Amino acid sequence: PGASVIIDKDFVISEIDKRIYGSFIEQLGRAVYGGIYEPDHPEADEQGFRKDVMKLVKDLQVPIIRYPGGNMVSAYNWEDGVGPKEDRPRRLELAWQTIETNHVGTNEFADWAAKAGSDVMMAVNLGTRGIDAARNLLEYCNHAVGTYYSDLRKQHGYDKPHDIKTWCLGNEMDGSWQLGGKTAEEYGRIAYETAKAMKQVDSSIELVSCGSSGAAMPTFPEWEAVTLSHTYEFADHVSLHQYYGNDENDTANFLAKSLDMDQFIRTVISTCDYIKSKKRSKKTMTLSFDEWNVWFHSSEADQQLEPWQIAPPQLEDVYTFEDALLVANMLHTLINHADRVKIACMAQLVNVIAPIMTENQGRAWKQTIYYPYYYLSVYGRGKALQPIIHSDKYDSKEFTDVPYLDSAVVLNESKNELVLFMTNRHLEEGLSVSCDLRSFEKAAIIEHVVLEHDDPKASNTKDKEDVTPHSRGNAVIEETMLQAELPRMSWSMIRVK
Ligand code: AHR
Repeated sequence: PGASVIIDKDFVISEIDKRIYGSFIEQLGRAVYGGIYEPDHPEADEQGFRKDVMKLVKDLQVPIIRYPGGNMVSAYNWEDGVGPKEDRPRRLELAWQTIETNHVGTNEFADWAAKAGSDVMMAVNLGTRGIDAARNLLEYCNHAVGTYYSDLRKQHGYDKPHDIKTWCLGNEMDGSWQLGGKTAEEYGRIAYETAKAMKQVDSSIELVSCGSSGAAMPTFPEWEAVTLSHTYEFADHVSLHQYYGNDENDTANFLAKSLDMDQFIRTVISTCDYIKSKKRSKKTMTLSFDEWNVWFHSSEADQQLEPWQIAPPQLEDVYTFEDALLVANMLHTLINHADRVKIACMAQLVNVIAPIMTENQGRAWKQTIYYPYYYLSVYGRGKALQPIIHSDKYDSKEFTDVPYLDSAVVLNESKNELVLFMTNRHLEEGLSVSCDLRSFEKAAIIEHVVLEHDDPKASNTKDKEDVTPHSRGNAVIEETMLQAELPRMSWSMIRVK
């Protein structure tokens, strides 16, 4: 099998908003407690944050991190997590049936994110609470001084505002599992009124209106149409969430699931544009794909957990090599929609369906999915280019005409670098790829990184990282033709200068 590709610097999709390489930390399982925060760990800093975990997060160059939920936020009282730690209440955390000690809250998380070099994307509770709690939290975080909540922040030791720019109006409000879940009309009204109040407190913020919690929801995309017809004026983005699994153990089909993500994005775009036309609006709504990943390995183990523990090992998927390939394809899909997707968050970042894992009192290690996330985030900055691709194809259980080649192409003009990200979905054979780089004269290969493994189910553990990339890819350039043989079932990053 083979594929031919034309890449031209004039075929620009859009500048990539670096926030598409965002992530997510929920107060859930061991994401915070035992993940980013473990005060009695030998690597803990003066605030109790693990420096080894921080290093892995910083390496990923995560531009923005969503917090504190997720399902958790829909019954969260943000006031529980500020002020002297000894006064903070222990609460029943209903979404995940745990005990929340509130030892980490808004201020600690803002500190941690600043140390990690990331912005915070804050979610407000539109499940059990509403306008008041949201506007007060925003005043607490962003108002300079001289009002009740800004002075309270000062009293808590934070003179300077956190200046959080991106805010989610609730989480998955269409889900039956969501505390305080709502119909589209109910959500549209409360989200509109909350957004109006929040923009009055701070007009510089960006707001994310809740979209469906997945493309398979029975109310999708009617939920988007109804809720956006309420929130369109004040919202800047609409959210998308999607997780994929391989319960059926059908790798060919699994690797094609990014095509479903692509279709999901297209449907949300058309629904947004329908509301835009209906409203005769000049504003174009953009997308925040603020939860995406592979999630299915831990589902059974989670059923066995006893409720009401502090920081139990929840949603601790151990990822395989094939999961890393789908994660790469999902990142390619986000880049290929860079004109409309402006924020995306890999869900999540540490321990909970995460690229980074920790042992309590032990080491921090990288899952298989860490690698595509790392390379795409670090090298996928600049302009997204639209490659013209002719690839051999296959059919799978749910998809027809699946190209063996999945790719994204990024032009980084500041580094004078063209970066090709490519997956070969073929399970048995290598893929011969020829790329016509006609507008790049005197191009030369910088490196060709490959992620490959004989076993699609290979995974990394705390003791052994079995799935790691190498730089022995065989890409060559003659004149302006780039040729590479992509190993069967593999992912590549080819950097060209
Ligand atoms: O990321 C795990 C959970 O998935 C989040 O809490 C929720 O928003 C989604 O259903």
